[in-house]
Amino acid sequence: MNLDNFIHKKWMIRAICLASLGRGLTSPNPMVGAVILDKKGKLISEGFHQKTGMPHAEAMAFNNLKNDPHGGTLYVNLEPCCHEGKTPPCVDRIISSGIKKVFISIKDPDLRVAGRGIRLLEDAGIEVNLGLCEKEALELNKSFIHKNLNGSAYGVLKWAMSIDGRVGLKNGESKWITNEKSRSFVHKLRTDFDAIIIGGNTLRKDNPILTTRGLKKLEPLRVVFTRTLDLPQKAKLWDTELSNTLVVYDSSTANEEYLKRIPNNVDIEKVSSDEPKLLTQILADKGCNKVLWECGPELATAAVKAGCIQEFITFVAPKIIGGENGMNPFSDFKFKSMNEIMNLNLQEIKSINNDIYLRSIAK
Ligand SMILES: NC(=O)c1ccc[n+]([C@@H]2O[C@H](COP(=O)([O-])OP(=O)(O)OC[C@H]3O[C@@H](n4cnc5c(N)ncnc54)[C@H](OP(=O)(O)O)[C@@H]3O)[C@@H](O)[C@H]2O)c1
Repeated sequence: MNLDNFIHKKWMIRAICLASLGRGLTSPNPMVGAVILDKKGKLISEGFHQKTGMPHAEAMAFNNLKNDPHGGTLYVNLEPCCHEGKTPPCVDRIISSGIKKVFISIKDPDLRVAGRGIRLLEDAGIEVNLGLCEKEALELNKSFIHKNLNGSAYGVLKWAMSIDGRVGLKNGESKWITNEKSRSFVHKLRTDFDAIIIGGNTLRKDNPILTTRGLKKLEPLRVVFTRTLDLPQKAKLWDTELSNTLVVYDSSTANEEYLKRIPNNVDIEKVSSDEPKLLTQILADKGCNKVLWECGPELATAAVKAGCIQEFITFVAPKIIGGENGMNPFSDFKFKSMNEIMNLNLQEIKSINNDIYLRSIAK
């Protein structure tokens, strides 16, 4: 790598690190960071998109300028926008600033941009370099990209199990498999998500709270997916002081009489089937980029089969629950040959006290 390339990479990595400060806060928008150098190559400003509704990274960097950007360089990890949204187009601001060179990691998959931002910059005589730190930029915004390309939220399935692969007892008891430190880790993990999904049965059996315990100011939306609507009159999720709750039900099978049991402060939405994909599309339309599935085996299996799960997080605790009365993390995929089974790519493994944390992605 020559010295110039090394320097450009250094500034783009800085933009990506800045972008990551918005983790868990920017949906439906992406995480974006921007760095501006003057014509002598000196850092004169930087910024990042802090949360939806706030200025874009480029705008924040222009607002913070310490020197004249004429003839300077901008580094930004996503193609600048060229459409009027909650904030004015960043491309106009870049063009009028007199900046001469722009480094961009990746194109914006949003169809309102998708290469148009780059063309406008080039048409204005700005030199555009696309692809610097592409891999890191794709990884950072993978859920935003997935949502834009597929129209559904990026899904992560999480479960906790014993070393013999059981998530609880068949009678519904599953508290607690993992240790306290792992459970605190889950509270932190949830801060990265826009919504947390369970099925009606987990609500009935576990009566969970599903919050970050205050670690995130705007708690993730809690979502219950149900076919029957046979949900309890009293549930911790019905208390929406801390966080909002949404019940999504299948109108083809549910008994709508049960709607009376759900208090008015809980949002309700009906869908035409129990197809998990519909749920992830609804959540994407509501602005969720990334959702955490914390459901039991039935819904987990349906979600995996429907292609709603892109990542798998498993906590393994040194406990043995046993076969007959133990509950599997999944129901049946009806595989008949080892050629059919799902193979995952392990991304991360660590120990949390005596538990093991594993993160894998679908191949
Ligand atoms: N160890 C762990 O990590 C862990 C995590 C979560 C849960 N659990 C345990 O898992 C047990 C519950 O398991 P579960 O499998 O019944 O979980 P669930 O999370 O309640 O999912 C199943 C429920 O989801 C609803 N649903 C909507 N569409 C569906 C579809 N297409 N396919 C399947 N279900 C759909 C139904 O609710 P309705 O019945 O309301 O119609 C169904 O009963 C509990 O005992 C809980 O303690 C363990």
